[in-house]
Amino acid sequence: MTLRKTILSGMRPTGKLHLGNFVGALENWVALQQEYNNYHLIADYHVLTTDLDASHITRDSIDMVIDWLAAGIDPKKSPMFRQSQVKQHTELHLILSMLITTARLERNPAVKEQVRDLNIEHMSYGHLGYPVLQAADILLYRADLVPVGEDQVPHVEISREIARRFNNQYETVFPEPEPKLTRFARLPGLDGIDRKMSKSAGNTIFLSDTPEDIQKKLRTAVTDPQKIRRNDPGRPEVCLVYVYHQRFNGAEAEEIGAGCRAGSLGCVECKKRIADRIAATLTPFRETRAYYDAHSWEIIDVLTDGEQRARTRAEETMTHVRTAMHMG
Ligand code: TRP
Repeated sequence: MTLRKTILSGMRPTGKLHLGNFVGALENWVALQQEYNNYHLIADYHVLTTDLDASHITRDSIDMVIDWLAAGIDPKKSPMFRQSQVKQHTELHLILSMLITTARLERNPAVKEQVRDLNIEHMSYGHLGYPVLQAADILLYRADLVPVGEDQVPHVEISREIARRFNNQYETVFPEPEPKLTRFARLPGLDGIDRKMSKSAGNTIFLSDTPEDIQKKLRTAVTDPQKIRRNDPGRPEVCLVYVYHQRFNGAEAEEIGAGCRAGSLGCVECKKRIADRIAATLTPFRETRAYYDAHSWEIIDVLTDGEQRARTRAEETMTHVRTAMHMG
């Protein structure tokens, strides 16, 4: 038997996912499940760092799991679980929090960015320390790899430092996890080629959108500002609709690009065609969502089973940790 490497992937429960989440993360997770041992974490405690209203977290977690299942993640292969339901996360988090300085956390570029973007004046202790909670998420499963986008690399680096520190101070318990970068990580949103698709920017296509929603949203998509009339030659390289063609309409992208450049293809037609392709890509998402809307108890079963299996692995790690520290 070959020893499979372990992957821990995590996402904040933001509710229904969008096309950018699919391209940037989910699609990758699905591909990885054949080759690795995967754990899929719902980072529900992480939500509290920026929003103390916890009343929507359970619903948002369930909505997110439905999209995970629709994307093709197999819960039999890869447990899906909420961080809050596996108590070992809080135990390991406390121990790890002693192994990193506050100065190191204050230097973290991702936290600095959040302070700027969200205009945070007084940061909570838990918010500053959330990379330590993330380190606990990763190390608790003794993960070798963590699939992330560029923005999360500093956090994985912090996890590596903490793992090293623990191993040096006590005994080697943790592998040093490595980031596994996604190739096509950034999908631009409907408002222009430079902005990432994100829920907060309101420029998304949801995985649950109907074909009509998708047609309507694409009509508003920003294209090459120099192509005003149908027959004006356009520049696909600055057009976000063309990025979508490349990504979701590989077979026709070249012809579309040539038509745009020549001025023989107008934006209205071009947008209609990509909306059809995206709607077709998302058919399984709508079908799966319809199924689970009528069988919602099955999601609870998926989580109950996933949380049970996550706890088993987590408790195994904590036994090593307590032994290494002579606190067992
Ligand atoms: N911090 C991640 C984000 O904001 C979510 C997350 C929490 C995570 N724990 C994780 C990602 C563990 C990877 C591994 O997107």
